[in-house]
Amino acid sequence: MGVSAMDIRIEKVAKSRLNEVDFGNIQFGKIYSDHMLVVYYDNGVWGQPEIVPFKELSLSPATTFIHYGQAIFEGIKAYKDSEGNPLIFRPRDNWARMNGSAHRMAMPNVPEDIFINGLRELVNLDRDWIPSTPDTALYIRPFMIAIDEFIGVKPAEKFMFIIITSPAGPYYNKPVSIYVQDQYVRAFPGGIGFTKAAGNYGMSMFPTQEIRKMGYDQILWTDGFEHKYVQEIGTMNVFFIIGDKVITPDIQHDTILAGVTRDSVITLLKDKGVTVEERLLSIDEIVEAHNNGTLKEAFGTGTAASIAPISALTYHDRTMELSDAETWETANWLKKEMADIRYGRKEDIHNWTLAV
Ligand code: COI
Repeated sequence: MGVSAMDIRIEKVAKSRLNEVDFGNIQFGKIYSDHMLVVYYDNGVWGQPEIVPFKELSLSPATTFIHYGQAIFEGIKAYKDSEGNPLIFRPRDNWARMNGSAHRMAMPNVPEDIFINGLRELVNLDRDWIPSTPDTALYIRPFMIAIDEFIGVKPAEKFMFIIITSPAGPYYNKPVSIYVQDQYVRAFPGGIGFTKAAGNYGMSMFPTQEIRKMGYDQILWTDGFEHKYVQEIGTMNVFFIIGDKVITPDIQHDTILAGVTRDSVITLLKDKGVTVEERLLSIDEIVEAHNNGTLKEAFGTGTAASIAPISALTYHDRTMELSDAETWETANWLKKEMADIRYGRKEDIHNWTLAV
């Protein structure tokens, strides 16, 4: 069944909450736009997509995903160009990745027309919620949950796909301090590390709480066999600039999220002629580079975080401070280049932005 924009039923809010928002002071993830998209899946088919006022969900306490975590999500951002037209950044890549997560989690594929047309209609309807101050965007959170009312353990048959949106400021507003984790494990080959399954984030809460108490912002996960190779940071992929090479862990082992921002960064750097190596990267190599002065920059990448410089990395009892991120050539160039494309200020040669 093809669902065109015409097939989306729309119920508008009686009164917008827009005038309650202080757009001069928006943080990440705290306020939600007027509407949301909701679609149910049952008996092997997706039903009628609906855009309705943002509201609470009413679900049985026995709903499957609450107990067993059959839940996945995505993160996308929409911006406004200089004429005020909304531009959504690479939504088809998130759609494809969501279906990769869905497959691994025994959940149904979301058809492209529901995901993309739903997103376009929703962003179009709530276009006034897209903030326009520097470093802000409309953060879009598509997610799918298993909603069988059953507390036995089995793949569910009923699902909800929902998209909510939220005007958002930067996820990190200063360089992040990182703790290199070599006790707890995020992902193994064959596991779900490459997905955006809720459980990947749920399992990180305790280790993150521990390192926050020690004064660090985020964890850099290492492999579960030897704790030797770096994988990703709790909220983003990771890049290191050693000498004149940009190095990021490769995504071939099911353990690392195929970040859309990660891919954009690699593409822009390669376009510029910079050498990017996607490969196993050991913490020893990073320590060695810091010792001999060749570790120039380190940053995380993600939809929420954008390009987030790392101020220091702590491994065992050693803290490796990095130079002042304001002076970094590559991270700052990437930040500007990405912003220029996202806000429609620069030709979009890769066809990344989608007008609504
Ligand atoms: C995103 O960057 O969109 C994410 O989903 C990361 C999340 C931890 C906020």
